[in-house]
Amino acid sequence: MKTAITEMFGIQHPIIQGGMHYVGFAEMAAAVSNAGGLGIITGLTQKTPADLANEIARCKDMTDKPFGVNITILPTLTPPDYPAIVKAVIEGGVKVVETAGRNPSELLPPLKDAGIKVIHKCTSVRHSLKAQEIGCDAVSVDGFECGGHPGEDDIPNFILLPRAADELEIPFVSSGGMADGRSLVASLAMGAQGMNMGTRFIATQEAPVHENVKKAIVAASELDTRLVMRPLRNTERVMTNAAVERLIEKEKRLGDDLKFEDIIDEVAGVYPSIMMEGDMDKGAWSCGMVAGLINDIPTCQELIDGIMSEAETILARMNGQMSA
Ligand SMILES: Cc1cc2nc3c(=O)[nH]c(=O)nc-3n(C[C@H](O)[C@H](O)[C@H](O)COP(=O)(O)O)c2cc1C
Repeated sequence: MKTAITEMFGIQHPIIQGGMHYVGFAEMAAAVSNAGGLGIITGLTQKTPADLANEIARCKDMTDKPFGVNITILPTLTPPDYPAIVKAVIEGGVKVVETAGRNPSELLPPLKDAGIKVIHKCTSVRHSLKAQEIGCDAVSVDGFECGGHPGEDDIPNFILLPRAADELEIPFVSSGGMADGRSLVASLAMGAQGMNMGTRFIATQEAPVHENVKKAIVAASELDTRLVMRPLRNTERVMTNAAVERLIEKEKRLGDDLKFEDIIDEVAGVYPSIMMEGDMDKGAWSCGMVAGLINDIPTCQELIDGIMSEAETILARMNGQMSA
């Protein structure tokens, strides 16, 4: 299937694996890219720009297909060394960058000068338009369903995607709640040129995370995520667990007085224990409502091939129904 996104990124299928903290290592990105999608290494999971350069080199050893790097721009007083991260990406010969979080305008000039395509992931039409205005090549439109940070507007993809299609001139992919061929066809119907998936890619054979994480996603239903940190305007959709219930109890008790320090045990630095050691109650970890649609742990090739063949079957069936 050819779309503006497959052409822009030089990939076979219009499917992207979004950056994921402590999931988006070289193994994950290479497996998705080798299966014909666009795999993405999560830049900030690497402790230093030198480590990121090494991770990019490892990925290149595992695939000769295009892959990307996610650069998440955090709302923090002591930011990571973004210029050095951008330098590692450029010198590593990476062709695509997924930005997320705050406005990426300061990162764009060196990336564009190096001929790198930038897809900005954001959760609203106004931020999508801003991304277009500052020169991003594409947008990943992340609806309220998504795992991770859905923003504060709470607009689900059935509204957000057609709204984006009505306003944007640059191509965009759907993100949040995407799992299968039905998701892809629906995304195309709503004006997207492809789809981005996070949670679905964690439950794959190659995802370099503990088996407990994959099993938790397969076991979960669409009712098992919670929104946390809304009082801090840093809302995150996470899988519910003992730590999340404790966190929510603190949010209820402290109300508007809640500060980050109050929930630091539940949210700060918990990813290595969860993703690497499978300590599932250690803290809050991002997970989408789409867990309710995930019932298996295929290889990335099986997953992507299955999505494409299901999408093609649906399109052929719809075509037949309409011409009947
Ligand atoms: C465990 C996990 C970690 C994530 N970490 C990041 C991150 O570091 N940076 C980022 O831009 N998005 C991150 N995301 C969001 C994903 O890239 C993607 O936008 C989201 O998962 C899409 O929603 P879905 O899970 O319903 O597919 C994360 C998502 C998950 C599930």
